[in-house]
Amino acid sequence: MNFNITLLPGDGIGPEVVAEAVRVLDVIASKYNHTFKFIERLMGGCSIDKYGSSLTDETLADAQSAHAVLLGAVGGPKWDDPSAKDRPERGLLALRKGLGVFANLRPVKVHPALIDSSPLKPEKLKGVDILVVRELTGGLYFGQPKMREMKDGKERAVDTLEYYDYEIKRVMELAFTLAKGRKKKVTSVDKANVLESSRMWRQIATQIGKENQDIELEHMLVDTASMRLITGPVFMDVVVTENMFGDILTDEASVLAGSMGMLPSASLGESGVGLPHEARAGLYEPIHGSAPDIAGKQIANPIGTILSSALLLRYSLKLESEAVAIEKAVEQTITDGARTVDIGGKLTTRQMTDEIIKNL
Ligand code: IPM
Ligand code: MG
Repeated sequence: MNFNITLLPGDGIGPEVVAEAVRVLDVIASKYNHTFKFIERLMGGCSIDKYGSSLTDETLADAQSAHAVLLGAVGGPKWDDPSAKDRPERGLLALRKGLGVFANLRPVKVHPALIDSSPLKPEKLKGVDILVVRELTGGLYFGQPKMREMKDGKERAVDTLEYYDYEIKRVMELAFTLAKGRKKKVTSVDKANVLESSRMWRQIATQIGKENQDIELEHMLVDTASMRLITGPVFMDVVVTENMFGDILTDEASVLAGSMGMLPSASLGESGVGLPHEARAGLYEPIHGSAPDIAGKQIANPIGTILSSALLLRYSLKLESEAVAIEKAVEQTITDGARTVDIGGKLTTRQMTDEIIKNL
């Protein structure tokens, strides 16, 4: 089959890791007789430099018309001026909103051979397999008003935490659907003892829980959840939460896996809506940032991006066997002892990918 994939390598190590995922996808294409047409565009700081905008209308339109989007990372000290009119991160948020990808899936699996790479006690890490489902297009990131002003001679800054019921409902339903194919447990994380939006969140979670009696639903306050992620991660399966809580908890969860460089993510929208095909709108990216300190050195771990490309095959292209093939190859490569610097080895970005390709 023929598929169009928009590549947004972005800034820092983004281009290095995306190039490796493309090599892996090319191998998949020839092994399984597909044609992947890659269209590369600028997004983030590099796009500010060239076009004066972190996300141009043309790039967004290309991303919207593709079967899927693979992104590296955006940002860096060069574009960090707090008074700047545009920022690389604004482009990323506009892309998420523009693609309608309201659910961000961040699987956190601990490979047995990497247990020692984590600062946590090995006995806490055995068997950890969590899927965080983070709401991605609502909450504090997008709520209006969002502004700064002078009021009564004092400077004031405002962000708004706003949710509509349908925004919570659709991400909650997806979390329950995903739990059906796993250990059948959903932990819904909120701050219902303080926040009105969280009280609505909990009410909707309870309602959807009643409609899905086969799934165990547990409510957890976000402060408790941040502790439980470290003290008892093995008791968590699907964790569903609002945008900001999910941002914070997934960085914490990445420590379980030994390195941020290992973790992929998939951001999904409605099934089929506005797309030239049946699958879901999808944006795929590693959870790590642009790591400007190691950019261009060929030492970044490409696994987060390579596993993101597996999620792309699974969710947007509906190529399950091909996705599993990549995941198995990565697992085997780690079992065999291949290591980049972040997980205690010496392999370059390219060499690590070579090892994965050998196992494909
Ligand atoms: C993430 C990142 C982004 C976010 C930043 C870069 C805007 O931290 O994807 O987790 O906060 O969503
Ligand atoms: Mg984050």
